Amino acid sequence: MSQPNTFDIVILGAGSGGYAAALRAAELNLSVALIDKAELGGTCLHRGCIPTKALLHAAEIADQTRESEQFGVKADLIGIDMAGVNAYKDGVVSRLYKGLQGLLKQPNITVFNGAGKLVGRDTVEVNGERVTGRNVILATGSYSRSLPGLEIDGKRVLASEHALKLDRVPSSAIVLGGGVIGVEFASVWKAFGADVTILEALPRLVAAEDEEVSKAVERAFRKRKINFKVGKPFEKVEYTENGVKATLQGGETVEAELLLVAVGRGPTTKDLGYEQAGVRLDRGFVLTNERLHTGVGNIYAVGDIVPGLQLAHRGFQQGIFVAEEIAGLSPAVIDEAGIPRVTYSDPEVASVGLTEAKAKEQYGADKVSTYNYNLGGNGKSQILKTQGFVKLVRVNDGPVVGVHMVGARVGELVSEAQLIYNWEAFPEEVAQLIHAHPTQGEALGEAHLALAGKPLHAHA
Ligand code: NAI
Repeated sequence: MSQPNTFDIVILGAGSGGYAAALRAAELNLSVALIDKAELGGTCLHRGCIPTKALLHAAEIADQTRESEQFGVKADLIGIDMAGVNAYKDGVVSRLYKGLQGLLKQPNITVFNGAGKLVGRDTVEVNGERVTGRNVILATGSYSRSLPGLEIDGKRVLASEHALKLDRVPSSAIVLGGGVIGVEFASVWKAFGADVTILEALPRLVAAEDEEVSKAVERAFRKRKINFKVGKPFEKVEYTENGVKATLQGGETVEAELLLVAVGRGPTTKDLGYEQAGVRLDRGFVLTNERLHTGVGNIYAVGDIVPGLQLAHRGFQQGIFVAEEIAGLSPAVIDEAGIPRVTYSDPEVASVGLTEAKAKEQYGADKVSTYNYNLGGNGKSQILKTQGFVKLVRVNDGPVVGVHMVGARVGELVSEAQLIYNWEAFPEEVAQLIHAHPTQGEALGEAHLALAGKPLHAHA
């Protein structure tokens, strides 16, 4: 370091994108200033991925207890102790938080705890101090968006961060938005015993997924008695004596104890000096080239502020990418479609690559084939009593360009699916590889066997 407060890289934001960049840069012997106004780890660790998945795991246990009789196990679900659930959830977060703090405690990384602001092309001001870098990485993440006129009060109208801290199970809940957060919370609350209604403006739940996936999730939700209304935009919410009343366009109303707003996350880029430094924004998102450079000085951006999938593992990969770019390693550009996606609702949804519709658009309808392997033929899925499928999308005489899965635990299968997609594997190549029996992974193997023209446990 040439002068105090001068670093190779100044990183604004210590969430998934920012801290990953710091760790990789430190490995590459670059000096890093890592600035955050809140806890290291950001949304994912403290208010997102980790605590929600802990809730979803508790929800799974509740459902399995309720359904234990079908496995010959006698158990009664006496109730949900939210204090206990929250203690378990917070315990997971705090152990991971401790681990992360330990990881970041190293000579090449200096952590600044305070609200930073870009005050020049190479300088961030924090706690009245100026911190300068040969390079700057913007990694300020995202916040829960609302709709015009819809005020989140944190009591009856909640954002996901409030829902995560709820000290009780609501008797009923309206979930506004049938995207990822919406279906995950609907899953949790239903398993905990609440009466849940999802309101989604688009014609289907998890609308970013393949259409067949949406259909399967909707079928499963109907079976679980999770109510949903799709294709009708939300108009307003009013307080009632004990709760809220939501009105849809056309006048239909739904009442419940509370309403969760899950209509997407906006980029945290306001009043941070980005535009003054010349960084271009589009609806608040930071515009970059495919190498994540903003086009201004040595300023890069990573994570949820960059248009695209708002996923923690995308942030990790972008953080690593930029650190390596700055170190002169010329890393390979990240293929956005190759980023695996998992929704941890019950049933789970996992996918990578293109949906059937997108593949047909990109390659032509006659150049694409699909195959749908039903989990009914998969031994392990039958043991778990789960339903669903593995759907493959391939280019004829070419590689697999999309994998879409629904069913219990399919999130774990996406690790193999993303290798298949990102390695541009042909079904014929995957068909030669062996899957352990009985595993759910076999369903992936079977689907590739079928597409390679040699189905084993598949009905015509
Ligand atoms: P989202 O974009 O997945 O879903 C928002 C939904 O709200 C959309 O389906 C949209 O059509 C609907 N909507 C918008 N305006 C509406 C209106 N006026 N009336 C009715 N519906 C309306 O965003 P979500 O679920 O809030 O999640 C935010 C981000 O967090 C996402 O990018 C997601 O990828 C990420 N996330 C990822 C998770 C995972 O990977 N498992 C878990 C939770 C969140």
